[in-house]
Amino acid sequence: VAHFHYNTDFEGKKVLITSGPTQEAIDPVRFISNHSSGKMGAAIADAFANSGAEVHLVLGVGAKKPKNPHIKIYPVRSANEMYEAASKLHGKMDICVFAAAVADYAPKNIASEKIKKEGDGMTIELVKNVDIAYTLGKAKQAHQIHVGFALETENEVFHAKQKLEKKNFDMIVLNSMRQEGAGFQLDTNKVSLFFEDGTSIDSEVLPKEQIAKMILEGVKKIPVKI
Ligand code: CTP
Ligand code: CA
Repeated sequence: VAHFHYNTDFEGKKVLITSGPTQEAIDPVRFISNHSSGKMGAAIADAFANSGAEVHLVLGVGAKKPKNPHIKIYPVRSANEMYEAASKLHGKMDICVFAAAVADYAPKNIASEKIKKEGDGMTIELVKNVDIAYTLGKAKQAHQIHVGFALETENEVFHAKQKLEKKNFDMIVLNSMRQEGAGFQLDTNKVSLFFEDGTSIDSEVLPKEQIAKMILEGVKKIPVKI
């Protein structure tokens, strides 16, 4: 396709990306979700595809779609569906980027009929969802690279480094929520990359396309273990 500026940096590589929010059903008409736009995931998917990678994108409802027509998209709704789709692909992948904003909890029971308004209050019991990145991190093969995200509002660096280790990531992208020009719905972002070897890189406030390129540069820096 002529208007895609290809380079061959990731030619022959298979890349799995999770992106967007998950939706956890309460009843047939209601759900629990979050503000994730999927813009960062879409930009990363395009950046990899435009660099020659075979990209598999597991995508939550309403998340932004990438532009590159070669990207294979797997639409999902809940965290469980996202996990099912991602785990089927995982074994064959070289690089996995966990960019999705997965709901941490889901309703314990999904009501089969619309819940009627009764009484002055109500309680919904929630149970913890599967942690996709953590679970696949335990199955990570020596040649595979895992990249995670962290969105924090306090003790940002501490929490990001803790997640890097706990989820067996090679690199984690810390989103600065406190920074102007950074956040869920915006077209710009400001991030820090933390690597497994203790090094880190800070970005400026940049368009998400530029942040995606920086993340790919970060992936290139990760030593391949064979
Ligand atoms: N993640 C995931 N599955 C989940 C929760 C998170 O794959 N059920 C991934 C995210 O895609 C991200 C990383 O784990 O790459 C960190 O997500 P985050 O929500 O920041 O971490 P949590 O472990 O859920 O911790 P908390 O929300 O309490 O900060
Ligand atoms: Ca979470």
